[in-house]
Formats: sequence, structure tokens, C-alpha cells
Amino acid sequence: MKAKNTLTISILSGKGGVGKTNIALNLGYCMYRGGFPVMLMDCDLGLANLDVLLGVTPDVNMQSLLDTDTPAEEVAYPIEPDGFDFLPAASGVPELVEMDSDLRNLLFQRLDPLFSNYEYLLMDLGAGITPTVLAFAAMTRIRIVVVTPEPTSLTDSYALMKVLSTQHNVKDFYIIVNQAEDKAEETSTYNRLATACERFLGFTPEFLGGIAQDKMVPESVRKQVPLMKNAPNSRAAKDIFAIAVKLQKIKKSMLEDISKSIFTKSTSDLSN
Ligand SMILES: Nc1ncnc2c1ncn2[C@@H]1O[C@H](COP(=O)(O)OP(=O)(O)OP(=O)(O)O)[C@@H](O)[C@H]1O
Ligand SMILES: [Mg+2]
Repeated sequence: MKAKNTLTISILSGKGGVGKTNIALNLGYCMYRGGFPVMLMDCDLGLANLDVLLGVTPDVNMQSLLDTDTPAEEVAYPIEPDGFDFLPAASGVPELVEMDSDLRNLLFQRLDPLFSNYEYLLMDLGAGITPTVLAFAAMTRIRIVVVTPEPTSLTDSYALMKVLSTQHNVKDFYIIVNQAEDKAEETSTYNRLATACERFLGFTPEFLGGIAQDKMVPESVRKQVPLMKNAPNSRAAKDIFAIAVKLQKIKKSMLEDISKSIFTKSTSDLSN
């Protein structure tokens, strides 16, 4: 595979359980089916669960990269042939959860040659505002904050963006509203969050799209098959497809920028 202009995307949320992992997996699947090589990186270092969603049990993971001389290519687990790979996290390794900047640097140094094989690098982050989550989110070209209409999700998303903007000077975010009942609830959820950011933080996050509350999502989780494969005609699948198309357009518009470096800053520029 030749080097690509890799678009790095982190998927984050203030509150847990809002749909990040499902969104990362299914956006990745859409992009792959669109002909773009995708790496899905499980960055939920505390409680990794992409492997469970996929029903796979990889022998090696990110920890193997740090402990041994395992080449990065060997840690990439093919979800689908030719272009949809998965980089497993090590679940329950405290050292990785609270990674310091040296360890983070080492990890990305080891991974660097691998990343350029992909058009998209999707990072599924853990919920909340741990230093590792903030550092990973600050590195990527695009940050997608997933919110649901629940007030706690809104306040926690606001807090997450506030910390990223004050501690890491990051002020550009895309919002996905997940699990709304209808379009009106999607819009009002986004508007409430955007208004608070505008008024108190001085920037407006951009609306990337909404994903309907859909029983086919938990059904696909139970089957351990991506929604896009299990129920491609479901409402949520169509919504995710529309978001993938939008991201492709965003990538095209950013091409010159991302050809310089796949990350906005090197990990060494990021303090803990
Ligand atoms: N659009 C949706 N409609 C219905 N259920 C959904 C939808 N999106 C996610 N869910 C359900 O919400 C639950 C949490 O999803 P997921 O694991 O993707 O969240 P998460 O944000 O990654 O959680 P965590 O913070 O624990 O990593 C799952 O049971 C999933 O089936
Ligand atoms: Mg998750």
C-alpha cells in the first residue's frame, strides 16, 4: 500500500455510553466500503470494547508494541480484507490508561510507519477528560464529540470542550447528536450545546449530523456484527452513511493541510 494523506479523527464524549464505539466502527465500515483504507484504533485504554463489538480476540495489542519488538503491521488486525484494520487496545492496563508523554511518544513512534497506509485513522476514545483522552484528542485533525439529548450528556460534552480549549487551545469540534427521537430533538440538542459554547467559550462547534435512536444498533451489538453490515437499510445506518459522506467532503477540502503531517502536533508538544 502506498502512503496516503491520512485524515486522523478522534471520537470522544464527556459522558460514557453515548455511542462512540458503535459510531467509530460503523463510520469506518462505510469509508472502507467506499474504497478508502481505514484503521480503527481502540484508544479506550481502560475498558477497550471494540474487540467485543467485532467478536474478535486478537493475540497482540498496543501493549505488545511497547513491551516487545512486534512490528506495528503485526498488531493491525484485519476486520475485512484489503483495507479495514483494527488496532486493539490492552484492556485493564493501568499504565496505558494514564500514559505519560514519553510512553505516548514511544507508542506513536512505533505506529507512525503503519498509519500512512490508511486514508482514515479513526480513534475511539474513552469517555471523560483524562489526560490521555485530552492528549489524543488534541493530536487529531478532526474531533467528533458525540452527544445524546440527555442533559448530563450535554453538560459533560460542554465541560470536555471547555477543558480541551483551555488546556490544549483546541477550539474546533464537530458534533454528532446520537439517539434523538426525531430531527427536532437533534436540532434542539445541537443548538443548546452550540449556544453555550458560543456564549461562554467563544467558538461554535459544527453540526456533523444526527443518528436516530434505532433498535437495530443494540441488535447488531448483540450479534457482534457492524450495523452497516447487519442492517444497512436501517435509519441509523442511513444517518451514519450520510455522516461518512460529509467527512469525505471535509477530507477533500483539507487535503493540502493534511499532506503536511497526519497529526496537528507531535505528541512531544503535548504536556500531560
Ligand atoms: N443510535 C442508537 N440507537 C439505539 N441504541 C444505541 C445507538 N447508539 C448506541 N446505542 C447503544 O448504546 C450503548 C452504548 O454504545 P457504545 O458502546 O457505542 O457507547 P460508548 O460511547 O462507546 O460507551 P463507552 O463510553 O462506555 O465507551 C450500546 O448498547 C448501543 O447499542
Ligand atoms: Mg466505547
